[in-house]
Amino acid sequence: MKQPAEAYYDKLSSVYDQATSVENAWVAPAYMTERMKTFLRPDIDLLEIGIGTGQLSEEILKHENNINITGIDISSSMLDICAKRFPTIKLIHGEVFDIVNNQKTSFQIIAICGTLEFIEDYTHAFAACHSLLKPGGLLAFTYEPVIHNHPIQKEHKSLTVSSIESKYHVPDFYTYRRSPDEISLALEDNGFYALENSEFVPYSKQGIDVIYHCILAEKDEN
Ligand SMILES: C[S@@+](CC[C@H](N)C(=O)[O-])C[C@H]1O[C@@H](n2cnc3c(N)ncnc32)[C@H](O)[C@@H]1O
Repeated sequence: MKQPAEAYYDKLSSVYDQATSVENAWVAPAYMTERMKTFLRPDIDLLEIGIGTGQLSEEILKHENNINITGIDISSSMLDICAKRFPTIKLIHGEVFDIVNNQKTSFQIIAICGTLEFIEDYTHAFAACHSLLKPGGLLAFTYEPVIHNHPIQKEHKSLTVSSIESKYHVPDFYTYRRSPDEISLALEDNGFYALENSEFVPYSKQGIDVIYHCILAEKDEN
């Protein structure tokens, strides 16, 4: 049986690129690439978790064409689109937890754009990233902060599509939000040192700005 995130993105895949191509509909890939650009050097190995149809990787490759990208995603339908657009990217169907024990390569950069809010156990995800990164490697990610007076982001957890009338409604598919303190603590506990933290608006939902934080963190030298 499909996991909720897989069921949702398999349904959304056929409209994802079109829906996000409208101006300002989805600015996270361009924003994150801008933050990461001084780390994007030729010949490095980069893992994108939640690569989707490849929008972040596309921005990264525009900036530095000579990066070896591996992408992992829970949705095979999103990956099928990515594979057609970017035949040179190595793609893996699954979750980051699946590859920790059998992935021999370690990476200089791991990027997670618009995906951590769908991973319930973010601490476990940071631990997995730590074991996949080279010493001194970069973990770059976005997350949804909890914001107490925000109409959407005031809850730690809410259904991603709450209306059961919507064809994109998937029971038990949640968006998870964290406080900046929770993220800082989880990074520290898993051997990361935060280099940079910025806030931006990646998209609007029903006319309401959604807020993301973008973090760049360095893995310790161990
Ligand atoms: C909002 S899309 C972002 C895609 C791409 N990073 C971008 O910026 O356009 C979120 C992606 O995360 C994937 N995803 C959700 N939960 C996941 C998980 N636990 N492991 C791997 N991928 C996941 C979804 O299938 C989807 O492709």
